[in-house]
Amino acid sequence: MTFPADRPRRLRRTPALRRLVAETRLHPADFILPVFVREGLEEPQPITSMPGVVQHTEQSLLDAAEEAADLGLGGIMLFGIPVVRDAEGTASLDPQGILNRSIAAVKRRVGDRLPVMSDLCLDEFTDHGHCGVLTADGAVDNDATLEIYARMGVAQAEAGADVVAPSGMMDGQVAVIRQALDEAGHQDVAILAYSAKYASAYYGPFREAVDSQLQGDRRTYQMDAANRSEGLREADLDLAEGADMLMVKPATAYLDVLSDVAESSDVPVSAYQVSGEYAMIEAAAANGWVDRRAVVLEALTSIRRAGATNVLTYHAAEAARWLRDG
Ligand code: PBG
Repeated sequence: MTFPADRPRRLRRTPALRRLVAETRLHPADFILPVFVREGLEEPQPITSMPGVVQHTEQSLLDAAEEAADLGLGGIMLFGIPVVRDAEGTASLDPQGILNRSIAAVKRRVGDRLPVMSDLCLDEFTDHGHCGVLTADGAVDNDATLEIYARMGVAQAEAGADVVAPSGMMDGQVAVIRQALDEAGHQDVAILAYSAKYASAYYGPFREAVDSQLQGDRRTYQMDAANRSEGLREADLDLAEGADMLMVKPATAYLDVLSDVAESSDVPVSAYQVSGEYAMIEAAAANGWVDRRAVVLEALTSIRRAGATNVLTYHAAEAARWLRDG
């Protein structure tokens, strides 16, 4: 009988040995917490399809931001839900609009302890729910939308955002936002570009989270799940337009794209573990079908292993507490 000389199992024998040779580690700074703040809310409002996640009041948002800073998270990403929506998403430009005033309030609270990031997109602000303004025949008008994005970027920067995150998948969005920021004196505000953002059914629970008005889908601007190399093309365009960081979204079902983008670019790459990924873990765990904590940490580890510098995840605060408390 011949026995193997190479024995990978040697290094798996004890927890300490496994820790010694781990290629991927999780750290609270790897996690960015997405948060929803809703105008006019009196109490935090649970989101049914995302157990444990709420729409924040302006006050409870500050508590969440404070906790995120104390935990040493990588950042916080703000989504605003206005009371009044219109065809152009006007509330997105108002310095006193829910998103811009919340950016300012969070920034006042956390200062430079926690990077404050904001979603730069129109879908929460339009009455039709699309990420851009529409032409007379109902198509999403790329270039008219760019003009609004440019002003939105400046409004968010004036409010105090450290990072703006265009998520609308309009062609040329990074270039116009960069130019507008620079012209307004905001050279230091960074752009995290949603580069490879797919038209995904995994965004389902997010629609409830932001009370989305959308009828139909976003398939004329978000990417087709069938395409891999197009993800690289989108990432290259965003880099050429001046993106400081790139993002792939969703995460778990697109680890191939994430790996490609991380490999081919020399900037930090984020991955967004989206609402549906969260909801599936929570639903299975609530039934006792998977070990909740183990699955959450495995999913986050896998996303980092595939190449993500950091992960936007609704589990950010809880995962950070697990890492802290052991
Ligand atoms: C658009 C936006 C969406 C998400 C983040 N930004 C929704 C969409 O594109 O339909 C989804 C996030 C999630 O599902 O967790 N502003």
